[in-house]
Amino acid sequence: MITDNILRGEKVRLTAVTKEDIKAISLWYEDAGFSRLFDATPAVPKSQNQLANLLEEQEKNKDIYLFAIRPIDDNTMLGYVELDGFLWAHQNCWLSIGLGDRNNWGKGYGQEAMELILRFVFQELNLHRIQLTVFSYNERAVTLYEKLGFTREGVYREHLQRDGQRHDMYLYGLLRREWQEKRIARKKD
Ligand SMILES: CC(C)(COP(=O)(O)OP(=O)(O)OC[C@H]1O[C@@H](n2cnc3c(N)ncnc32)[C@H](O)[C@@H]1OP(=O)(O)O)[C@@H](O)C(=O)NCCC(=O)NCCS
Repeated sequence: MITDNILRGEKVRLTAVTKEDIKAISLWYEDAGFSRLFDATPAVPKSQNQLANLLEEQEKNKDIYLFAIRPIDDNTMLGYVELDGFLWAHQNCWLSIGLGDRNNWGKGYGQEAMELILRFVFQELNLHRIQLTVFSYNERAVTLYEKLGFTREGVYREHLQRDGQRHDMYLYGLLRREWQEKRIARKKD
């Protein structure tokens, strides 16, 4: 129904990020393992002050949609999902997602948050295409994106260097019609 809360699933919901979340977010960045999956910049901790400034900048930018991923029944911030780099004339944008605490990985939160944001992208923003990048060693994320119907469209060869080794970064894209086909297939299962 048109009045359903499209930002709410069975396990998680997407809400605003608030100043109260900053402490939790700064703890995520104490885990360099999280940073090395999420970001190509050096894995350094982020102070609460830095994060507050970042959040303020993001709030000013009308072309960034930032959501907190929270469980259905409490206010813990599990992670965030962000849409940015919009090309409105061409109906596409970039997506990134991260669950901060590794105790919350592999419990289905990421998949449901992705399903919610994709529904928002294609049914609320009416975009035609969404894209993202992922590091080749991030097997969990690669599996998730492929499961959701994303296509590997390109490889940034040897884009990163970590622990003395070069690693590729992949470009993945999903078109509206591919998302629709995947949804129909899931409903039939
Ligand atoms: C990547 C991430 C968003 C995935 O979310 P998640 O909640 O951990 O994943 P889910 O539990 O929803 O699992 C989704 C699918 O991923 C796959 N998966 C889960 N764990 C996996 C693992 N250890 N290895 C490979 N694939 C895995 C499975 O196919 C799973 O579906 P299934 O349970 O039906 O088989 C989350 O782990 C995360 O934020 N990690 C740290 C930051 C990050 O990597 N961000 C993405 C940057 S591109």
